[in-house]
Amino acid sequence: MKAGSIYSQLERNLTYPLMGSLPVYKMRAFTPPACHLVRSGRNPDERIYAGGLPVSEKERNRDGMRSSSPANGYPLDPAVGSSDCRITRTRPSEYSHQPVMLGEVLSILEQIPSGYFLDATLGGAGHSKALLELRDDLYLVGIDQDEEAHIAARKALADLNGRFDLVHERFDRLDAVLDGLNVNKISGALFDLGVSSFQLDTPSRGFSFRNDGPLDMRMNRATGINAENLVNNTSYQDMFRILTQYGDERHAKRIARAIIKARPIATTSQLAEVVVNAMPSASKKSPGHPARRTFQAIRIAVNNEIEILESALNKTIDRLIPNGRCVIISYHSGEDRIVKRTLRTAAGLKNTVPKHLPKPSETATVRLTTRSGQTPSEDELVQNPRSSSARLRWFEKAGD
Ligand SMILES: C[S@@+](CC[C@H](N)C(=O)[O-])C[C@H]1O[C@@H](n2cnc3c(N)ncnc32)[C@H](O)[C@@H]1O
Repeated sequence: MKAGSIYSQLERNLTYPLMGSLPVYKMRAFTPPACHLVRSGRNPDERIYAGGLPVSEKERNRDGMRSSSPANGYPLDPAVGSSDCRITRTRPSEYSHQPVMLGEVLSILEQIPSGYFLDATLGGAGHSKALLELRDDLYLVGIDQDEEAHIAARKALADLNGRFDLVHERFDRLDAVLDGLNVNKISGALFDLGVSSFQLDTPSRGFSFRNDGPLDMRMNRATGINAENLVNNTSYQDMFRILTQYGDERHAKRIARAIIKARPIATTSQLAEVVVNAMPSASKKSPGHPARRTFQAIRIAVNNEIEILESALNKTIDRLIPNGRCVIISYHSGEDRIVKRTLRTAAGLKNTVPKHLPKPSETATVRLTTRSGQTPSEDELVQNPRSSSARLRWFEKAGD
């Protein structure tokens, strides 16, 4: 069964709890109905409503959230591995995320033609801000499906007012976003996939085994099924497949069995504990938290991350002008496989041909650069260990 069908079957099989007066399935829109333009750089003073509340009110509500110290790391993390699980309520006070492979990204994108630059995974706008500062002939269209990222990005880009539009949307809807802004072609694009450090480090978002929090893991909290729903309603076979396909988890069988047995599971600590207890002792000694692959796999399934990537890349290829460039940074093998396959197809290369053959066909729409992609420098790995799984690929639109 394909990954996409796991998701749809899951949707069908779920028993939906009541939220407010409507069953969850009635409140859910898997494809958000329309773009939510949150703040326009062209019209910075305009207040635009997103998700029912004026942005200012949302900001006020969020400012009321408490901040505290950062979480502990495995294996000393008190929130996991003990049945008497201690609740570590932490919240980073400020959006913080270090842009990965920033130097490499800038050296590729600083050469794009002038025009519109699409950041499909805006986050805190770390990459985009640096690029706009480098090139004053670029105009940014920034997409992120996480409203908290927009707040951070708007702050980061405050000095560049008039040079960006930020849109709350999922990146596979980039055609609707660009059409909505009357943008036909783009000069460059960036997909810095996965989650931000802020999302990981905010316990209430439920992404991390390091902090206790509700099992949520949705990047867009206004829509979709959350991790709690998925963990408590997925069949053994589907859970096994999710863990294998999205987490490359060797112990998928044991973990899937343990999850089913331990239900209901409501928090990140409970899930982490179930996984730790299900692992064979020898595997617990290998580097990295034993639950990291399970959390990654469930996050990918919750956010439908793999299924939408190929179509988003193909739409980007169509939108680029000749010599326009696109950079993609992926953080796990499943993601990178899709990026590689999509780009090789667009470059007119068959995936099966030997390394040294052949020349791209005449129908190629993109020119590829490296075969295996770039990885972070030693310095970056020391300074930002979270960059360790990053793999950067980029291409240029053919035409000239
Ligand atoms: C790794 S962070 C990007 C960080 C950013 N490059 C920076 O320097 O601040 C990834 C961001 O992409 C967003 N994201 C991931 N998948 C997305 C999707 N399918 N559509 C829209 N946003 C997405 C996440 O919410 C997150 O904020």
